[in-house]
Amino acid sequence: MEKFLTGLKKKALMDVSKAADRTALEAVRVGYLGRKGELTALLRSLKDLPLEERRRLGPEANALRGELEAAIQERSRAIAAAEKIEERLDITKPGHRMPRGHLHLLSKVDAEVRRIFTSLNFSVVEGPELETAYHNFNTLNIPADHPARDAWDTFWIRREGKSPMEQLLLRTHTSPVQIRYMQTHEPPFQIIAPGRVFRYEATDASHAFNFYQVEGLMVGSDVSLANFKYVVETFLVQFFGKGTEFRFRPSYFPFVEPGLEVDMRRKGGDWLEVMGAGMVHRNVFDAVRYNPDPPAGGVQGFAFGMGLDRLAMLRYNVPDIRLFYSGDVRFTQQF
Ligand code: DAH
Repeated sequence: MEKFLTGLKKKALMDVSKAADRTALEAVRVGYLGRKGELTALLRSLKDLPLEERRRLGPEANALRGELEAAIQERSRAIAAAEKIEERLDITKPGHRMPRGHLHLLSKVDAEVRRIFTSLNFSVVEGPELETAYHNFNTLNIPADHPARDAWDTFWIRREGKSPMEQLLLRTHTSPVQIRYMQTHEPPFQIIAPGRVFRYEATDASHAFNFYQVEGLMVGSDVSLANFKYVVETFLVQFFGKGTEFRFRPSYFPFVEPGLEVDMRRKGGDWLEVMGAGMVHRNVFDAVRYNPDPPAGGVQGFAFGMGLDRLAMLRYNVPDIRLFYSGDVRFTQQF
């Protein structure tokens, strides 16, 4: 009899936990506790037992009834809670599209520039945004106290009483990546170096205190301005489309000789500068211990630098550089 009681208990609790809905649970309840239920029958049969056994089994059987009732109530609550969740989920409602992010316009233009130059067999390299004065200025033929330094309004990080290698600044252009690359590689090569640069200056529609540049550098035994012209025209036509007009003008940058600027004609007819460039100055080659005399087995090459933001503004008619950094999705979602 005792064995039977424990067996019944196990079976009953199992059935309760397996009941998946109200109907199934009610069937379990009736099966054990109903008028003709198994436990009801057992309780009823107790009276036919000898007094001794009745005293022992009576309380146990009654306790089982209590336990079973509690388990049924508990299960009933769980089923009700699950039904409530199902009610809240209306699977017949039409869906709505999740808003999807996308690349920032500057990232897209950056990717496009990299794609065009790698198709011309240029490698893409990068350098640090925190630079030394040595890499950002001195080795680029811009000595301390030279008036040319004024052309770059600099965010100094550490300046007074230090050697150029110890003076730290936020790079004012990507040209120092030229130096870092040449210090660690031998020609011939052709690279571009895209990255962020910083200028300590007031902002307006065409000036931001940080923006992006793409540096270019090609060095070899016979790399000439003719090669430069081909590479740059190929790039500009691919980026802005066939029929784009540009012109090359003499200009001055300390790290090139001769130096020049490339302008492109805008829709309105006016000319706008898109890059600075030139043949790498021999002082720059000296600084990285390259031989700057081709007749004596040395090298020559061209370098250029352009503003990525400027390229994006021209191609997509963006009127204000600050829009790129505003974080305003009404702007970014247009591209
Ligand atoms: N670094 C220059 C600037 O930020 C741009 C530049 C001019 C880069 C001429 C060059 C170059 O490589 O040859 O104003």
